[in-house]
Amino acid sequence: MATIQVYQATGVGKPFELVTAPKPKPGAGEVTIRPKAVAINGIDWKNITFGATIESWPAVLGIDGSGTIEEVGEGVTGFKPGDEVLSYAPGILGKGTWQEVYVAQANDVGKKPSYLSFEEAASLSTCFLTAAGAIVDGLKVGLPGLSKIENTNPPKSILILGGSSAVGAAAIQLLRIALPSVTIVVTSSKPHHEHLKSLGANAALERSAQGDAAALKAASPDGAGFDAILDAVGAGPDSPAVYDALKPDGLKLYSLVLTRPGAQVPQGLNSTLVTVASADPGSMAWFSKLLEERKYKVPVKAEVIGHGFTDIPKGLARFPAQISGVKLVVTL
Ligand SMILES: NC(=O)c1ccc[n+]([C@@H]2O[C@H](COP(=O)([O-])OP(=O)(O)OC[C@H]3O[C@@H](n4cnc5c(N)ncnc54)[C@H](OP(=O)(O)O)[C@@H]3O)[C@@H](O)[C@H]2O)c1
Repeated sequence: MATIQVYQATGVGKPFELVTAPKPKPGAGEVTIRPKAVAINGIDWKNITFGATIESWPAVLGIDGSGTIEEVGEGVTGFKPGDEVLSYAPGILGKGTWQEVYVAQANDVGKKPSYLSFEEAASLSTCFLTAAGAIVDGLKVGLPGLSKIENTNPPKSILILGGSSAVGAAAIQLLRIALPSVTIVVTSSKPHHEHLKSLGANAALERSAQGDAAALKAASPDGAGFDAILDAVGAGPDSPAVYDALKPDGLKLYSLVLTRPGAQVPQGLNSTLVTVASADPGSMAWFSKLLEERKYKVPVKAEVIGHGFTDIPKGLARFPAQISGVKLVVTL
């Protein structure tokens, strides 16, 4: 029987173990992937630190990876063994990418263009899928070539909280593609401002502005307030002043990416709580096309922090304080 190495999380606050397990087979609509690089996301840190979404241990964490297709399951036509790909996998359910061969839904897999490194590719899928869901579901904005929504009355001004997060920097680019003339204002620490403008933001404000509704509003067109907020980092519940930056007679859209269990959206706004599962099933195919046509840039730098699964704890130790405008990656 073929076997693989699995980097297994044994419980909250407990050490990882590298164990040998049977090599997984893809089911119908699935593929297996041999990763060459995997990313470390905030949710992985939340799971090992307080078990945010994991219901039973041991578990395999990791929600992003890139590598080559190992096998394809029944009904999968878009991929063949050896194809270079990037993907999401459900590490939030303990079936993640931190193993020598992992299973992914074919819908969660995209082709890796040759100009991207595996390290960069491993940083891309989850933040793209989450940003796409936050835009389509939360802001009711259609993405061209993907969502069926007609943009007949789209927001004309959008405030993105946490522009330098991977989700925020992905959202800037996707919104600029969907709504070329929309005004996008972002919050982030100052070192990222020029980069975020290069991705499509019209203006960038210091994070401290999130506590000052007047300062936020002053950055909106005519100082009238924003039609919509995309909250990539769950900043609103901690800084409710941001809600007062919405235009009183505007669309009052508030798209909140779920960052902690039990997060509540405020009353009186057109609010939506978004997860990675909010993305349309065709998202990764469209994403592959955007990447191939070079219409989408790596949103935050992919920082390689080590080689081999056993270097993953070095990356986890950086959360949350030492993560700013980067996605941490381990090569394999
Ligand atoms: N529920 C889901 O399905 C799902 C999916 C993906 C992500 N998420 C969650 O969404 C969040 C974003 O994920 P990510 O990978 O994009 O994060 P990330 O890149 O790791 O986020 C780090 C960045 O967030 C910024 N930031 C943190 N707190 C902030 C605040 N209060 N206000 C403004 N900016 C803030 C920091 O900005 P500066 O350093 O510039 O200040 C930093 O650059 C995470 O909490 C993640 O767990 C949820």
